[in-house]
Amino acid sequence: MSEYALLVTPSANRVYSGDAPRLLAAELDVTARALGLGDPSVRVVQLAGIDHVVLRADDEPRLAALAGSASAAYALYAREGDLLRPVPMPRPVAFTDDLVTIQKYTGKTNEQLTALLTNVTIAASARPHLLLGGRGRLLDPVCGRGTTLNLALLRGFDAFGVDVDRRDVEAYSTFLKTWARTHRLPHTHSYAPVRRHKKTIAHRLDVELFVDRAAQKAGRGQSVSVAVADTTAASQFFTVGSMDAIVGDLPYGVAHGSHRGHDLSRRADELVADAMPSWAAMLRPGGAIGLSFNTKTLRREQVEGQCIRAGLAVAPYGDVFEHRVDSSITRDLVVAVRPAGP
Ligand SMILES: C[S@@+](CC[C@H](N)C(=O)[O-])C[C@H]1O[C@@H](n2cnc3c(N)ncnc32)[C@H](O)[C@@H]1O
Repeated sequence: MSEYALLVTPSANRVYSGDAPRLLAAELDVTARALGLGDPSVRVVQLAGIDHVVLRADDEPRLAALAGSASAAYALYAREGDLLRPVPMPRPVAFTDDLVTIQKYTGKTNEQLTALLTNVTIAASARPHLLLGGRGRLLDPVCGRGTTLNLALLRGFDAFGVDVDRRDVEAYSTFLKTWARTHRLPHTHSYAPVRRHKKTIAHRLDVELFVDRAAQKAGRGQSVSVAVADTTAASQFFTVGSMDAIVGDLPYGVAHGSHRGHDLSRRADELVADAMPSWAAMLRPGGAIGLSFNTKTLRREQVEGQCIRAGLAVAPYGDVFEHRVDSSITRDLVVAVRPAGP
């Protein structure tokens, strides 16, 4: 076993009020074990006065690939005596990562938290190898303007979203079209009403993106589809039992600063109680759901209780990912898995 040190992305400390090294360590503990990299013995260590996440592994290429998809890993080094040997981290990205970073708007879930939540959710699923990229299906049932969906696209997934706020989905639609054009990526784009029994029941965005013309010719595209609807109606738009992962940053239930008033339209505990059965039904057997929430408006036990009621098994992460965001938000997350069946 060799020992490695990871430097934490500097901006992550702003996002997590100084908790970034601890959170990255907790994430890597979960993801390295899920990939079968052995006991990583992850800990936070100061090297030359700077926090590093130190861990052990006997498979350097796989560790480097895992670090490349970690939420806040800036640089990876192998520890050799007192010296650090740089190890390149392959990033499992299908497109340029400005797809996730370029949009700035009030209410955006920060990118590092989105990656952390996505990673620990995939780690709990029956297909943890998707941590290193691959063709999975991910649904964000409260997708806003698509931070999770964009991360999923970067990782090579097909992405599905639902949001009740039509302005958010339309802004996302415009962003995707502009982004694909700017990068000269072959794509198809449609935003249209969904009609049932001669009535418009929703609007729906469907985009297919191709990395280049050859991929388009071969029909090797990635799709992103978003329905403007209440999240409880997800099964009306996307295939039930098909999602490898459901990842969502729930409404925070606060109406100040960067958080929007319409988040208060339904209490967070009511939203989770109403929606959990339909979310659970969207998962394939072995698929996992990960939800982040404000502990000041929603208790971990409430989320876990709804998961269990919907037949899911809660991942044993406890509160290791809890962290303070500001005076009105302490964020935590719950991950649960749909049993793979006999
Ligand atoms: C914390 S925000 C998610 C932000 C998103 N991750 C992003 O980066 O753009 C929560 C989202 O939940 C949506 N929402 C609230 N209640 C909903 C419901 N009943 N059905 C669908 N979406 C809902 C809100 O419109 C809001 O966009």
